[in-house]
Amino acid sequence: MQDETAYVVTIDGPGGSGKGSLAIRVARELNLHLLDSGAIYRLLALKGLQQGVDLDQQHEVVVLLNDFNIRFDAGDDLSIPYLDNRDVSTEIRREDAGDAASRVARHAEVRQGLLEIQRAFLKPPGLVADGRDMGTVVFPNARFKFFLYASIEIRAQRRYKQLINMGLSANIAHLQAEIAERDERDQKRSASPLKPAEDALIVDSSLLDQAQVTELVLSHIREAG
Ligand code: DC
Repeated sequence: MQDETAYVVTIDGPGGSGKGSLAIRVARELNLHLLDSGAIYRLLALKGLQQGVDLDQQHEVVVLLNDFNIRFDAGDDLSIPYLDNRDVSTEIRREDAGDAASRVARHAEVRQGLLEIQRAFLKPPGLVADGRDMGTVVFPNARFKFFLYASIEIRAQRRYKQLINMGLSANIAHLQAEIAERDERDQKRSASPLKPAEDALIVDSSLLDQAQVTELVLSHIREAG
């Protein structure tokens, strides 16, 4: 068994599978720190968009890491992401930021450059980390690994509700096409593609609500001790 400082729960899965809200609930319930790794890719993408760099060119994106000034402050409910000391919580949730994040995330040197930033989130008593490669690459020794899955139709509906609740506009058919495209890009890239770790428990959340998924994950963790 790992010592307490290495207590990590990883939750990987495609966009809209519900891993973000699951990670928040599990972290709260177990009193662990939280890493939303997708937010880090989104912040980098936002910086790239602001500076007008070509996100498909690895060398242009890597340069952004030299002056990547980000932090997360505790908010009432969720943590608030800052880029260059500016609250960008709404901007990074937009679909164009998600799409841009998926493009910067394809570059191996960018992923390498973000490893240390992500691992620095691991502090006692432990961490819940959500993303695409938490269990495979960033925290391969995590004590608990989950891979959350849901059908594209369900994920598009969830994303739609999320965006509308945030006061943003959205279109279901458009979202579904974007999700399919992003899945394909995340799964087919050669650098840390989206895939379950061999020792991950795969959870299909299509027919479960958030409370049910959370309960399933928490009972698995508690049973294993
Ligand atoms: O989880 P999310 O939608 O916020 O992630 C946005 C994009 O960032 C996603 O399409 C792929 C990329 N990403 C990644 O490649 N690896 C991670 N660990 C997290 C996100």
